[in-house]
Amino acid sequence: MCGIVGYVGHKEAAPILLKGLHQLEYRGYDSAGVALTGEGLSSISVFKAKGKVANLEEKVNAALGKSGQMLTTGIGHTRWATHGEPSEVNAHPHLSMSGDLALVHNGIIENYQLLKEQLSGHGYEFKSETDTEVLVQLIDYFYQKNGKNLAKAVSQALNKVIGAYAIVVMERNDPGHLVAARKASPLVIGIGEENSEFFIGSDASPLVEYTHKVVYLEDEQIADIRMGEDVEIMNLDETSADLNIKDVDFDISALSKGGYPHFMLKEIFEQPHCIKNSMRGRIIQHENGLYEIKLSALTNFKAKLIRARHVIIVACGTSWHAGLIGKQLIEEMCRISVDVEYASEFRYRKPVIDKDDVVIAISQSGETADTLAAIQLAKEQGALIFGIVNSVGSSIARESDTGIYIHVGPEIGVASTKAFTGQVTVLTMLSLAIANAIGSMGEEEFQRTCEELVRIPQKMEKVLGQNETIERMSNKFTYAKNFLYLGRGYNYPVALEGALKLKEISYIHAEGYPAAEMKHGPIALVDEEMPIVCIATHHHLYHKIISNMQEVKSRKGRILAIVTEGDEEVKAIAEDVIEVPATQNCLVPLLSVLPMQMLAYHVAVKKGLNVDMPRNLAKSVTVE
Ligand code: G6P
Repeated sequence: MCGIVGYVGHKEAAPILLKGLHQLEYRGYDSAGVALTGEGLSSISVFKAKGKVANLEEKVNAALGKSGQMLTTGIGHTRWATHGEPSEVNAHPHLSMSGDLALVHNGIIENYQLLKEQLSGHGYEFKSETDTEVLVQLIDYFYQKNGKNLAKAVSQALNKVIGAYAIVVMERNDPGHLVAARKASPLVIGIGEENSEFFIGSDASPLVEYTHKVVYLEDEQIADIRMGEDVEIMNLDETSADLNIKDVDFDISALSKGGYPHFMLKEIFEQPHCIKNSMRGRIIQHENGLYEIKLSALTNFKAKLIRARHVIIVACGTSWHAGLIGKQLIEEMCRISVDVEYASEFRYRKPVIDKDDVVIAISQSGETADTLAAIQLAKEQGALIFGIVNSVGSSIARESDTGIYIHVGPEIGVASTKAFTGQVTVLTMLSLAIANAIGSMGEEEFQRTCEELVRIPQKMEKVLGQNETIERMSNKFTYAKNFLYLGRGYNYPVALEGALKLKEISYIHAEGYPAAEMKHGPIALVDEEMPIVCIATHHHLYHKIISNMQEVKSRKGRILAIVTEGDEEVKAIAEDVIEVPATQNCLVPLLSVLPMQMLAYHVAVKKGLNVDMPRNLAKSVTVE
C-alpha cells in the first residue's frame, strides 16, 4: 500500500526522502508529499503533489533551490488512497491544526469518524477527508495537554485507535526528533554510524544504501528517535521494550532497471537466475551423482511436518495461484490432503484447524494484511505456521514458526513474476523433501525430479528466447476486450495466473478456466473476436485439451497455444504457437507461465500502459 520514509541527521533530508519515495513508489502512486524542518526554523514546510513522485520532486526542488535553508529532518509518503480521493489535500504528510506536528501514515483508522466528532467537540477543524488527519489531530490533542511530550502523546492517541497503522511523526519545536509506531503495517528503522543519523522506511529498500543496521518495529511498539542517541523502543502502555538491531543483507542493484525498459521485463528475464538462487544450498548433488534436498525448516520441524495429515495454504493474488500448484505437488508427491484458501476469506470464516495441521502462508511481500491475519488465526489454534516469503524480515516471515525464503531478490514491478516461479520452486522442493522423508515417492522418481528441477533454469532461458516472437504476436491482440485462458492439471493455475497478469497490466478482461469446464459456460462467449490462450503441453490430459481446442476452433475462436517443443498436432489447430521444452508434468508451470508473463507485458506496452505501476493496484496490500 502506501510507502513511508523518514530521515533525521546532519544531511539535507529532501534528496534522501525523495530518493526513498521513488524506491517505494511501487507501493502506491496516486499522490506524494514530504514535510521538512531544520534547526532554527519556526515551522514545518509541507510539499504535496498529485500523481507520481516525480511531480513532487519538481515542486520540492523548485522551492528549496531558492530557500538556501538546511532542512535536516523530514518525513515523506507515497499514497494509495483508502479514505478520500487522490488529491493534494488528501495527500500526506498531514499537519495538525496547531502546525506543531506533521504525520505520515500507512493503514486504516477504523474508528476515525467517532474520533473526528470528539475532536471537533474540542475545536479541531479538518481540511481533508482522510482518517490520517484525524490521527494527527488526536496526537496533537494529547501533545498540547501533556506538556508537548511527543512519544507520550503518540502512545495516548494510539490507545484510542482501532485499526492498522505505520506512522512517523515530527514536531516543529524539536527538529532532530521523530517518533514512529506500527500495528499491522511494516516499518523499518535504519541506524547510521554512531546514531548520527536515522532512516525510516516501509521496507528496507530506501535504507540499505546508507546503513545495514536496522530495527524492524514490532506490532504496537513506538520508537523514539533522536539524533545522537540510542533509539528508545516502548510498548503502547509506555513500558520499555528491547532494541533489537539486525543486519540486513540487500542487493542494491536489484532496485534499478539494469538496462530494461521496465522492472517487469527485467524481473521476467531474471527468473532463471532467481530460481537458481531459490535452489542454492538446498538441492545438493553428491559426488556419487545423487541428489539430496536440505531444508533447515525440515530439519528443525521434521516431526511435525511429516506427521501432518492436512495442509492449509493461505495466500492472495499470484501467491494464491502458486498455492494451487502447491496443492497438486503436495497431494501428488506426499499424499497429504491440501486446501488452498484465499486468506481474506479464511480469516473471517470459522475454519477447521487442527493442532497437527500445517498452515503454509505464501507471500512475496510478507506484509499482505489478510495473509498475516490468517496465520495469526491459525496460530491461535495451534497449527504449525510455515511461511514461504520473499521479503526477509517481513511480518509474515517473523510471525511464522518456520519456513523457506524464496530468495528471488526485491520484486518491484507490481505484477508479480519472479516471485511466482520462486514460490513454485520452493513448493516443489518442499514437496520433494517431505515425500522423501515419509517415503511416499520412490527414490528413482525423487532423483529424476530433482535432476529435472535443476535443469529448469536452462530450459527457462529457451522460453525467454522467444520474447521477440511473443512481442510480434502481441500486436494483434491489443484490440481485444476479453481473453480466455484454458489449462488442465498443473496448467490450470497457470491459466489463472496468465489471465490475472493480463487484467492487471493491460486492463483487458480475462478469465482463466480449467479447459473442460469451458463447456459449462464460457464457450458461449467464444466468437471470431475472442482470443483463447490454451496451455496444451504434453501430459496425460493432452488429448482431452486438444478436444477442448477443437470445440473452440469450430466456434471460430482465435487460439494461441503453449505447447511442448516439437508438437505438430496443435500447430494444425492453433493460429499461433509458443513452444516450451519438454519437462516433467509437475514442473511444467515453471516454464508455461513465462509466455503468459511475456504476452501480458507486450500487450500492455503496445497499448501504451505503465506496466510497472498499473492503475489502482499496489504491490503490497497492507490494508484489508
Ligand atoms: C497484490 C499484488 C499481487 C500479489 C498480491 C499478494 O495484489 O499486486 O502481485 O500477488 O498482492 O501479495 P503477496 O505479497 O502476499 O504475495
